[in-house]
Amino acid sequence: MGAIARRRVLKFLAASPLLGYTAAGRLLAEESLDAIQLPNFLIKSPEQALDVFDFHSVAKHTLPPAHYGYLATGTDGNETLAANRRAFKDLYLRSMRMADTSDVSLGTTLLGEPLESPIVLAPVASQGAFHPDAELATARAAKTQGHLLILSNVATKSIEDVIAARGQTVWFQLYPTNKWDTAKMMLERAERAGARVVVLTVDLNSSSNRVLLGQFIRTDDRDCSSCHGTGSVEDFARMNPMYSGSGATFADFDTPDMTWDYLGKIRGVTSMKIVVKGIVTHEDAASAIEAGADAVYVSNHGGRAEASGWGAIESLPEVVAAVDGRVPVMVDSGFRRGTDIFKALALGADSVCIGRAYIWALAAFGQPGVEKVLEMLNAELSMVMGQVGARSIADIGPQYIGVRR
Ligand code: FNR
Ligand code: LAC
Repeated sequence: MGAIARRRVLKFLAASPLLGYTAAGRLLAEESLDAIQLPNFLIKSPEQALDVFDFHSVAKHTLPPAHYGYLATGTDGNETLAANRRAFKDLYLRSMRMADTSDVSLGTTLLGEPLESPIVLAPVASQGAFHPDAELATARAAKTQGHLLILSNVATKSIEDVIAARGQTVWFQLYPTNKWDTAKMMLERAERAGARVVVLTVDLNSSSNRVLLGQFIRTDDRDCSSCHGTGSVEDFARMNPMYSGSGATFADFDTPDMTWDYLGKIRGVTSMKIVVKGIVTHEDAASAIEAGADAVYVSNHGGRAEASGWGAIESLPEVVAAVDGRVPVMVDSGFRRGTDIFKALALGADSVCIGRAYIWALAAFGQPGVEKVLEMLNAELSMVMGQVGARSIADIGPQYIGVRR
């Protein structure tokens, strides 16, 4: 704004009867959200939560620094972590008024399974680091709120115990290992336990540079060996029961030689459906389907894989276009509000997974916390559906979304 135009605006503001005072500069500052200082407040119970970020504050306050750092970390300068959130701002909602939305339904299906809600609990490792009830609390919350749960193969609880806690089967997420026998053993065990879907994570094959985690670890002076042990086979199996009997001493995610024929190897030992998690390009979406994937899962691992600087919701449209309706498309990374979830559904996702949002609540309050997050996100999604005029998940389409230019 030129000096003359600025003077004119200031003069106008100063003269405005609406202002009550003439300090136009101050008013302009107050209109900027950054200028609003939120009161310091930690919720004391899940019921007090207004959004999922209330749980983040409690988790940060409650967890030991190293465990919080593990949960929070991105990679390098956290470029992808930031992009995951920033990307939602470039997508706006196009609301269609005057539709009868007195009866909004979240029900849908995914790989033939009826779901009460398209919101799914993403696989998150080592939940014992966040709450003593760990994956069992998550499974019980998934049960009471009616959500699909994907269990990590580096869980602190066994798949048998988690399925018992949920009262029905879960999807099983597998990290490939460079010892095929270990992968085979876990696949067979998961199928025996009742899993019908395996989610193969393909986005950490060459490791990741978790600087933020290191920054927290070096401030934590507790003795980690009292829980983690000393790196023996027994210690590792105690903390990661799915590896029991494998002889592994750490979960070796470095599998740089893995190519698309790995899906064929999985097919050779299990009849579970295969979902490929960690896809961010149309090229890989096409390759995954060609290799026999039953669903494609767009994810940048919550910003914990490479620092691409590109948000997951920005990867979604090219994947949806390449998949072209042949298989379901799932997505995660950065989803914190019903509106975020709605945007992904409008861009063609069939379901949206959440990671940190429910783990913050697990860390803060255990099972009731996770229940509240699920309840809140369902309510937020229903609210935005009602606002824009969509009655069902099937109704949600590209007509409801625009891209800021
Ligand atoms: C993860 N994620 C993950 N993914 C996976 O396939 N297997 C795993 O064991 C884990 N473990 C894990 C631990 C922690 C602490 C986090 C935060 C994440 C990634 C997870 O499935 C999901 O992709 C992201 O969490 C989604 O991003 P948001 O929702 O956390 O932003
Ligand atoms: C992580 C792995 C375990 O992101 O998925 O920490």
